[in-house]
Amino acid sequence: MRSRCRLFYLFVVSVAVVLLGPAPQAAEAQNAAAAAAAAEKEILLEFKGNVTSDPGGRLASWVAGGDPCRDFVGVFCNDAGAVVKILVHGADLLGTLPPPSPASDPPDNFSLRQRLLRRGPAGTLHKLNVSRNLLSGEVPGFLGGLPGLRLLDLSYNHFSGEIPAVLFSSCVRTRFVSLSHNALSGPIPADIANCSRLVGIDLSSNNLTGELIPQICQPPEINYISVRGNSLSGTVTDKISMCQSLELFDLGAILSPEREKLGFFDVSSNELSGGIPPSIANCRGLRFLDLRFNNLSGSIPPEIGSLKSLSILRLGNNAGIRGSIPAQLDGIELLQILEVQDLQLSGEIPITLSNCRFLLELDASGNDLTGVIPDTLYNMTYLKHLNLHQNQLNGSILNLGPALKS
Ligand SMILES: *[C@@H]1O[C@H](CO)[C@@H](O)[C@H](O)[C@H]1NC(C)=O
Ligand SMILES: *[C@@H]1O[C@H](CO)[C@@H](O)[C@H](O)[C@H]1NC(C)=O
Ligand SMILES: *[C@@H]1O[C@H](CO)[C@@H](O)[C@H](O)[C@H]1NC(C)=O
Ligand SMILES: *[C@@H]1O[C@H](CO)[C@@H](O)[C@H](O)[C@H]1NC(C)=O
Ligand SMILES: *[C@@H]1O[C@H](CO)[C@@H](O)[C@H](O)[C@H]1NC(C)=O
Ligand SMILES: *[C@@H]1O[C@H](CO)[C@@H](O)[C@H](O)[C@H]1NC(C)=O
Ligand SMILES: *[C@@H]1O[C@H](CO)[C@@H](O)[C@H](O)[C@H]1NC(C)=O
Ligand SMILES: *[C@@H]1O[C@H](CO)[C@@H](O)[C@H](O)[C@H]1NC(C)=O
Repeated sequence: MRSRCRLFYLFVVSVAVVLLGPAPQAAEAQNAAAAAAAAEKEILLEFKGNVTSDPGGRLASWVAGGDPCRDFVGVFCNDAGAVVKILVHGADLLGTLPPPSPASDPPDNFSLRQRLLRRGPAGTLHKLNVSRNLLSGEVPGFLGGLPGLRLLDLSYNHFSGEIPAVLFSSCVRTRFVSLSHNALSGPIPADIANCSRLVGIDLSSNNLTGELIPQICQPPEINYISVRGNSLSGTVTDKISMCQSLELFDLGAILSPEREKLGFFDVSSNELSGGIPPSIANCRGLRFLDLRFNNLSGSIPPEIGSLKSLSILRLGNNAGIRGSIPAQLDGIELLQILEVQDLQLSGEIPITLSNCRFLLELDASGNDLTGVIPDTLYNMTYLKHLNLHQNQLNGSILNLGPALKS
């Protein structure tokens, strides 16, 4: 286990270090490049050698007689023959990758890492995707120190333990990080705010606890946040409010409402409480809002109706949400999915809902809705899925439109 772990560490670090080596002159350069290529190949082969199970034969092309840049499937090089990408995702590779501890590293290896971390924005390894394998152990924190890394995908593995804060220590170039579908626990490190160019973070389906920290909304370009399926607590209010205040700040300063870019906000299946703040209207770029399976209360703010880009709105299974379905939802012209099931909604289904012409799915089951099912729902062309059971609605659905029959 230990050696496998160290191997992975060595693998990534060495590949990066080799690529980062100083650029020598002429003939020396050729020798250095050849040596670097040989070292890379050796590392790749060692990595393969320590993989105990490769059911799909994904590493079959990684053989001693081959040229990594030309022959090794999943290895990509730049023009200079240096490895820039290693993509061995979805291979069911079996291995264990606990983090290397500096104390137990031989001094040379440690200094290699130091060199790597010191070197600044010169690293060539910019994409590491080992998604969908069976890798376990802790998330190797040093990955956060790879200066060129833009995309890190460790999703669908068996990584456990806490998310190391150092993963976000020099992530100035990082655009997307996915740690989803692992067995990670503990809090989300606030250091994530240091990733100033982060566009997306997916931490879904882990076992994270603690507050859903507002820092997650801090990187100015962030537009994809998913923490679905964890045990995070706190309120969602300050997060969305933060989105508001930042926008106001930006607007006041230089008319760059970055917050408008937040397009995907999925915090479903946690234990968040509090209400949905009207300030959500400031997240004008929001396309996907999923707050299902939390502990939210209050009413659905009519301001949601001003979110013109929203196409999916899921609020279901929050036992504390009451009040009525706001008639203003008809302002969401592109709404395709509206899920408000298993809340405590009362009142009538607003007839204006039929103005959401592109609605495909409406689930308002398990509420206390009363009155008649509006016949304007009958002519909604695209409606495919209508679920109103367990309410106190009156009337008949016999007339329901042709779309429902198809
Ligand atoms: C496994 O990794 C070790 C280094 O940790 C290396 O010495 C050994 O050669 C590798 N095994 C194979 C079969 O490549
Ligand atoms: C990583 O590879 C998987 C395929 O196994 C793919 O679905 C995923 O999109 C890749 N990750 C990124 C961030 O491109
Ligand atoms: C680094 O560690 C590996 C085993 O973990 C070892 O085989 C190798 O010799 C070390 N490298 C140096 C330069 O000490
Ligand atoms: C993130 O930035 C803060 C402030 O600059 C710093 O104190 C902290 O150490 C950084 N986090 C990491 C993991 O480097
Ligand atoms: C999640 O964490 C709790 C304790 O924090 C633990 O009891 C539980 O087994 C963990 N679940 C998983 C799937 O790891
Ligand atoms: C859910 O929210 C209510 C207040 O709205 C609070 O009293 C309760 O403790 C919360 N439950 C959980 C599991 O957080
Ligand atoms: C449905 O029909 C009514 C009149 O019967 C009309 O006012 C309304 O605009 C129609 N809605 C759609 C979405 O076509
Ligand atoms: C059900 O609807 C009919 C006509 O649409 C109305 O006469 C009746 O009072 C309604 N019942 C209830 C309980 O709302």
